[in-house]
Formats: sequence, structure tokens, C-alpha cells
Amino acid sequence: MSNKKRILTGDRPTGNLHLGHYLGSLKNRVELQNDYESYIIIADVQALTTHWEKDENLKNDIYQITLDYLAAGIDPEQSTIFIQSMIPEIHELTMYFALYTSVNVLRHNPTIKAEAEQHGFKDLTYGFLGYPVSQTADISIFKAHLVPVGEDQIPHIELARKIIRRFNDLYAPVLVEPEALIGEVPRLVGLDGNNKMSKSLNNAIYLKDSKDEIAKKINNAVTDPARIRKDDPGHPEVCSVYQYQKIFNPAEVAQIEADCRAGQIGCVACKKNLTGKIDELLEPMRERRANYTEDMVKDILLAGTKKAHNVALATMEEVREAMKISYFK
Ligand code: TRP
Repeated sequence: MSNKKRILTGDRPTGNLHLGHYLGSLKNRVELQNDYESYIIIADVQALTTHWEKDENLKNDIYQITLDYLAAGIDPEQSTIFIQSMIPEIHELTMYFALYTSVNVLRHNPTIKAEAEQHGFKDLTYGFLGYPVSQTADISIFKAHLVPVGEDQIPHIELARKIIRRFNDLYAPVLVEPEALIGEVPRLVGLDGNNKMSKSLNNAIYLKDSKDEIAKKINNAVTDPARIRKDDPGHPEVCSVYQYQKIFNPAEVAQIEADCRAGQIGCVACKKNLTGKIDELLEPMRERRANYTEDMVKDILLAGTKKAHNVALATMEEVREAMKISYFK
């Protein structure tokens, strides 16, 4: 057995991953997969907490998200990718945590509140309100030390720490209190100037976008509305393209900013330059994606889930023992 510390993180399979996912969490996962024993959960049951009535895309979304991982540089030899619903012990552990988790605490979770509003949920279901408890089980069944996530997940990791600490106090110290690891760019702005890149806001560049798609999206991105002609002085601080130049083109951004303010570079040229930079990042991802067939993805998921399941089974032995519900051993 490896004595590396563990990482557990993952996503809901609800569509392709975009640059916001990459910078918030995926990049950290790729960089750390060698130093940690890494597990990546495809949280299909958590996806059903908001989409329970329409699940026809789930299987395809699971394939797509796995391809996004592999494209981004997740190495299936180093990182174990697995499917949540195929590890029923996660749901068992969720119930044990639910025994002592306060409904009021769940109601005050700011991410839950924001998502409920976004989906128009008035009367929250038990499953939706409780998904952070299930997420705590995702993490702790692997005894993960580190959880690379975007900043919207911070309240969930804080709750996980509390639930796990309480478990260790109540029963026996068998679980590990995890820490969140937030990306260097915790929240990427959308191309429309909205403060978050998001699929539902339709303002995202996906990891699998072609150069033409990237160019089209960046051409429509919101810039400085006061700038009508190319030689008008620009105001980079209000321009979404400038925000991206800062992130994706650090070597040239100072010059671009100066030229923009002086009216010496137009938005068309600036956008073309940015398209090139983002394409440089995504081109190797498209190449890696093309190496995988559907059968290869399926084999990776089955092997990963089997390995993850064995880890989960071992933790649950300890959990039941600690709770004194392991009667006939
Ligand atoms: N809630 C996460 C998201 O929406 C997905 C997720 C499920 C997760 N289980 C997890 C993230 C465990 C980190 C750890 O992106």
C-alpha cells in the first residue's frame, strides 16, 4: 500500500467542463496526482439531486466528463476515476452522518441557498438539502486529506470537517479531517462579464471547444462599451477580455494594457491574440482526447470504480466497528 496522502475530489456529470473548472480545480488535480494517491468521483447521484426527473443524459455525461479529465491530463494510472452510484457504501455512510447532522446548519449553507435560487427550488428536498452530507461521505470514505475544488465548495468542505470531527469524537478516531485546496484563479469571469463562468449562463469556453468556437465566443465577449473606434482610449478594468489576458497571457498583458489605454491596439486584434493563447492551452487537450475510444473510457471507469470500491469497503468495516453496529464478527 502506498503511504502517500490522499486526494478526493470530483464533479457532477452535467455537461462538459470549461476553463473555470480547469483553473479552479482540474489544474491542481493534474499537478498533484503524482504526489498524492488521487481519487476522482463522478458524482452522478449528486447530479440527480437537482435533475432527478430527467436523467437521460447521465451516461453520456459520465463519458464526456471522463474524457475531459483525460484530456486535461489526468492520468488513469495515477488517478482513480470512479462513479459514485456504483459505491453504495457512500450512501450507507451518508445515513450515519445524517443521524447527527442538524437540518438548520444545512439550511444556512450559502452554496445550497444560491443553488436553490438558481434552480427555482422553494421547498427543498431531503436529498438536495442533504447533498453536502453525502459529499462528506464521498470524501471521508477515502480518508482524503486534500480536496481540490472551486471556491463555491468551501462551505461544503467546512461542513465535512465538522461532521468528520464529530464522528471521531462520538465513536472512534477513524476518519480524516480534509482540507480544501482552491485554485490560483478561484473564480473565472464569464465572457459576458458576469462574475462566474457557468454552463447555465451560456458564457463558457469548454475544454473541448475547437479554435473556431473559441474565436467566435471571444469575438462576442463583452469589452469596454465606451470604446467605439479602434483608436479610442480603452478601459481594461471594465473589459472581460482583459481579465482573460491577465490569466492566459501574463507575458504580454502589461503591453496590451498600455496599448489599449493609448488606443493603439484595437479589440479585434486583442481578441485574436487571446484566442491564440487559449487555443495553445486547449490544443494538447484536444489531442489527448482524440486518443481515447469509448471502450477505453469504459474500461478506465470500471477499473477505477473497482479499486475505489475496495477502499470504501475497508473504511466501512472500521466505521461500523467504531459505531458498534458490527454485530456478528
Ligand atoms: N459538489 C461538487 C461540484 O458540484 C462535486 C462533488 C461531489 C465533489 N462530491 C465531491 C467535490 C467530493 C469534491 C469532493 O462540483
